[in-house]
Amino acid sequence: MNIIYVVTAALGGLVVLELFIILNSLRYTRQLLRIKDRHEAELRRAHEKLKSVDRLKTEFMNMAAHELKTPLVPMVGYLQLIDKSKLDPEDRENLEIAIRNTKRLQQLVQDILDIAKLESRVMKFNWEDVDLTRVIKDCTSSIAPLAEEKGLYVKTVMPKKLPPVRGDFMRLSQVLTNLLNNAVKFTDRGGITVRARRSGDQVIVEVIDTGIGISKKDQRKLFRKFYQTEAGKKKFGGTGLGLAICKQIIKFHRGRIWVHSTPGKGSTFAFSLPVRQ
Ligand SMILES: Nc1ncnc2c1ncn2[C@@H]1O[C@H](COP(=O)(O)OP(=O)(O)OP(=O)(O)O)[C@@H](O)[C@H]1O
Ligand SMILES: [Mg+2]
Repeated sequence: MNIIYVVTAALGGLVVLELFIILNSLRYTRQLLRIKDRHEAELRRAHEKLKSVDRLKTEFMNMAAHELKTPLVPMVGYLQLIDKSKLDPEDRENLEIAIRNTKRLQQLVQDILDIAKLESRVMKFNWEDVDLTRVIKDCTSSIAPLAEEKGLYVKTVMPKKLPPVRGDFMRLSQVLTNLLNNAVKFTDRGGITVRARRSGDQVIVEVIDTGIGISKKDQRKLFRKFYQTEAGKKKFGGTGLGLAICKQIIKFHRGRIWVHSTPGKGSTFAFSLPVRQ
């Protein structure tokens, strides 16, 4: 009799305890749900705020693009219209300096706009199947006169056909042109080889130069905005945005970009892009 009483009392106690635990956890769950709702509302508000800041940034960039770029186009145009043959040597040189600097300013404005658009993800890409052999042929033939002027060779090593990649033809050409411009700028003897090949599900493009090379310490920082080595700072016309733009464009293509270099021997800048599935 006593045992039955003790067991019943214990069971009753357990039921009460369980009820207590259930009631308490219900209360905590309600509290947690309230906290979650509050945080969700806060997150939504923060998200809206960010979106409006982003809109402002885009509007500002479009305005800046218009206000800064528009006057530069006629400036270069009119300066180039001046008949150099009628000028004395000193004035001719002054005119050439003015044209060179206006073009430099134009490029700088374009680069700043590009990096701003890439970073705020408003850059528009024209996605299509891209044949990288065409990009390479176009870009190497554009850079050839500049290389020739310095007595440098420009070679390409690639198969007749490469698998297509998904990308924006103009933006990929911009990447290769930046790398080729750098290669010519920092090479005084020898030349530049562009090599392309398929490696598994990637296409790899390399720009190999026999130029001044880059120290290990500098290699780590090259792809940062405005970073230039001491040699880079001395060259006319650079701002250190080229490689940062390349990195962003390649990132949007789900690719990778990297550098190998030996000071005094030369550098290889390479990027890989996934083959179109
Ligand atoms: N092929 C190369 N050989 C040696 N140094 C290089 C080479 N490519 C880039 N660099 C170094 O990396 C720096 C950054 O290159 P990046 O293209 O970003 O800028 P830039 O060429 O100086 O200017 P910009 O491209 O904006 O006109 C250069 O200033 C230079 O110091
Ligand atoms: Mg550059």
